[in-house]
Amino acid sequence: MKDIKIALLGLGTVGTGVVNILEENKLQLEKTMDARITVKHIFVKNVNKDRAINTERYHLTDDINDILNDHTLDIAIEVMGGIDTTYHYLKQLMTSGVHVITANKDLLAVHLEELETLAAEREISLKYEASVAGGIPIVNAINNGLNANGIKHFMGIFNGTSNFILSKMALEGQSFEEALAAATELGYAEADPTADVDGIDAQRKVVITSYLAFNQFMTLDDCAVEGIRNVTSTDIKLAGELGYTIKLIGQAYAENDRVEASVKPTCLPVHHQLAHVDYEYNAIYIDGSAVGDTMYYGRGAGSLATGSAVVSDLLHVIRYIDTKLHTLPPHFEIESKALDRSRH
Ligand code: HSE
Repeated sequence: MKDIKIALLGLGTVGTGVVNILEENKLQLEKTMDARITVKHIFVKNVNKDRAINTERYHLTDDINDILNDHTLDIAIEVMGGIDTTYHYLKQLMTSGVHVITANKDLLAVHLEELETLAAEREISLKYEASVAGGIPIVNAINNGLNANGIKHFMGIFNGTSNFILSKMALEGQSFEEALAAATELGYAEADPTADVDGIDAQRKVVITSYLAFNQFMTLDDCAVEGIRNVTSTDIKLAGELGYTIKLIGQAYAENDRVEASVKPTCLPVHHQLAHVDYEYNAIYIDGSAVGDTMYYGRGAGSLATGSAVVSDLLHVIRYIDTKLHTLPPHFEIESKALDRSRH
């Protein structure tokens, strides 16, 4: 049985989901992976804050050096958010050979190219399933399920909070403010919900999805953005009377080397499948050259939904470590062949 040592950076909504899933499914996960999985450190800003997990079982630290200087670590799971400082931590960890899993779309939308390059150079794993569409395995779908296809277009609902707000306004007659307060209470919104309601969170996810789908890095400025702040209850009511539902839609088209991408409130005919994706759910259509239209649906935000994507990445990374362990260096193969010959 392998020993896998993990550091968790961040213990907010997603970090708590990760710890809960690991505790709940520990025996099954360890048996499936043939690995003993230990969360060795959890990096937090405030070690004294009340937490929704039993902190006595863990080493909580506010000193990042406990993690950066721990050379026994195999995997770092980053769910702390932030861009610049977090990027430096991840770079340092990856440079010293630690595999990285991150849910941080803010950081990836800016630094994905450098981090992918570093991961390839160091032959380590960089995984970010949770960064797009929460619990929907969209990264896996594009990288694995659709890898026989060319993709020229995708379109979908990428932000759970704004979809939750639009649904509460349309289906329950709530005001924007009431609905946003409920989304925050349920842990869907970002610490600063501006990113959710102004479309920036969806814009970041469209940038990451474009890289996966088209293999082209783009910047945030390449994706036009408008959020839902100016959508009123009257707009929603009038759209409904005309047979439309308003949704915050992110999409991108690739033509030759050009990508056109946008995030904006869009009137969808009520019979459109995305018109019936409500509350914190996300859904993404992807048009594959061989398979045709595909659609992926599920919870786009929330502790356990997003934690599920992170733990799925963790299992992939453990499998990758296992494969590396069992890939024999060339000299070993030669020696074992020599041994075989001497036996006969
Ligand atoms: N605030 C994000 C959302 C969380 O509402 O979609 C998941 O990325």
